[in-house]
Amino acid sequence: MQRRPRRNRKSESIRGLVEETQVSVKDLIFPLFLVDGHHKQIEVSSMPGIHRYSIDLMLKEIESCMNLGIMAFDVFPAYPESLKDAVASESYNPETFYLKALREIKKQFPEICLMSDVAMDPYSSDGHDGLVKNGKILNDETLEILGRMSLAQADAGVDILGPSDMMDGRVGYIRDMLDENGFTDTSIMSYTAKYASAFYGPFRDALDSAPKFGDKKTYQMNPANSQEALIEADLDMEEGADFLMVKPALSYLDVIKLLSDNYPLPIAAYNVSGEYSMVKAAAEKGWLDYERSMQEILLSIKRSGAKIILTYFAKDFAKLLK
Ligand code: PBG
Repeated sequence: MQRRPRRNRKSESIRGLVEETQVSVKDLIFPLFLVDGHHKQIEVSSMPGIHRYSIDLMLKEIESCMNLGIMAFDVFPAYPESLKDAVASESYNPETFYLKALREIKKQFPEICLMSDVAMDPYSSDGHDGLVKNGKILNDETLEILGRMSLAQADAGVDILGPSDMMDGRVGYIRDMLDENGFTDTSIMSYTAKYASAFYGPFRDALDSAPKFGDKKTYQMNPANSQEALIEADLDMEEGADFLMVKPALSYLDVIKLLSDNYPLPIAAYNVSGEYSMVKAAAEKGWLDYERSMQEILLSIKRSGAKIILTYFAKDFAKLLK
């Protein structure tokens, strides 16, 4: 035998030398859930270890994450049913608790990278990402609402907008709106290839945002397809996206690879709620080693070509590195 690949695995130090991929805390964006009020910290029952915070406690949480080196956060609001309506009006009400919280976070921690979500679902009485009429999700009419929401979030000081709605043309629409209003520095991380996935279940528990009827298959992508991701990526790139995102991550590593091989923009992957919950649940039962599973998952996402990972593991991973 002339070739013995095991020689390059014979010690920790050699394995270190030949290691191709590393995940750094700098690669991670930590999603956080916000609720209205004061002194609230409510665990998401299907996501052990992940909480919904009121702004006072969220500021503390962000500070403790920063002490671990996490510098990027994506904040999602949980709205009570009473504030939802068919046109998501609360999403651009300047006095709404989400926008006030974004402003407060950016004021206290100007050095962090703050990301927000652009879609109607947390504010919609229909629980859909777009405007509903006669059981259909309207595309072009939704853009107007997304545009207003985007301007309101940009005005609150957000660094990166994350359109997660999958309406056609929204990246270009939002880019134009931002530029016309002087927000030329506000970035867009497009949810480029967002699949209609079962793995968003726990997230919808966290926000009480499950669709009231039907599913999201007329706008989110079919899990069977990868070529379509190239069409979405072409459009987002043309329309001015700064980052392309694939979501979920684990069942779509091939799509991450496809986009990272074909596009010069940084690729992000969203390691979604269900992907977190299944590891947590198995670990609680003693069936999986939580830390090793987490590390292997993040490594696999990075290895497949994602430069950036949105993940609920961020804080646990950062603690582990310390
Ligand atoms: C809202 C949105 C969703 C997620 C991020 N933004 C849910 C959905 O599309 O139904 C999912 C995130 C996760 O599961 O962690 N448009």
